[in-house]
Amino acid sequence: MRNQIVAGNWKMNKTASETESLLDELSAKLPDTHASVIVAPTFVNLSTAQNSLQSSTIVVAAQNMHFAANGAYTGEISADMLLDIGVETVILGHSERRSLFGEDDALLAQKVKTALDKGMQIIFCFGEELEERKSGNHFDVVKSQLQNALFGLDAVAWPQIVLAYEPDWAIGTGETASPEQAQEMHAFIRSTITEAFSTEIAEQVSILYGGSVKPNNATDIFSKPDVDGGLIGGASLKAEDFVAIIKAI
Ligand code: 13P
Repeated sequence: MRNQIVAGNWKMNKTASETESLLDELSAKLPDTHASVIVAPTFVNLSTAQNSLQSSTIVVAAQNMHFAANGAYTGEISADMLLDIGVETVILGHSERRSLFGEDDALLAQKVKTALDKGMQIIFCFGEELEERKSGNHFDVVKSQLQNALFGLDAVAWPQIVLAYEPDWAIGTGETASPEQAQEMHAFIRSTITEAFSTEIAEQVSILYGGSVKPNNATDIFSKPDVDGGLIGGASLKAEDFVAIIKAI
């Protein structure tokens, strides 16, 4: 069976003290679950989160990183810096990185390569914008995002990869893809990976859905056969809501 995962992307939210209190509350309320639970606080609070979660199964991830090993990249963070504080998982290609910070497929391919070479686990995000869905191009867009960043990889890299389909129009908008739309796209993603690699790889990779997942819609979305969990934004900032979503898987 594929790994089931519920990951919280905190984006640019929570100070250090707020990080500690949210994680304390989350740890206290965490239900018994077969799913892996991941939280991604902002860079400056990663160590705080690691310390708060020392005796917990919750995994801490970074929201981004640079592809270079080190050097004159003001404001950036390297893989080694993350690994040195015990962070081995990184989110790459989030739609906000793409749309607000100009990250394109070529740059993301470099980041993916670095993270994989360093032995990290990646949560690779992708998804179409509203216009692309309206014009019926969403399958082509998703396929090319995957091709450009991931399909040049060796097959052996896939165990380090988790995919997160996050349609841009569903992020932070309160408008979620219907469970059927999510399932349709996730099945398409799996068939695309089968074509490019193998059925075995396609069947093993966890594909998360992200975009306005809330306690009241998580069960329906997670019930779909090709949806292996969620990447949660806003609802991961409240322990009660995040716990309710974890219970839904
Ligand atoms: P929301 O759950 O706030 O829509 O955000 C989704 C997301 O971008 C997770 O990475």
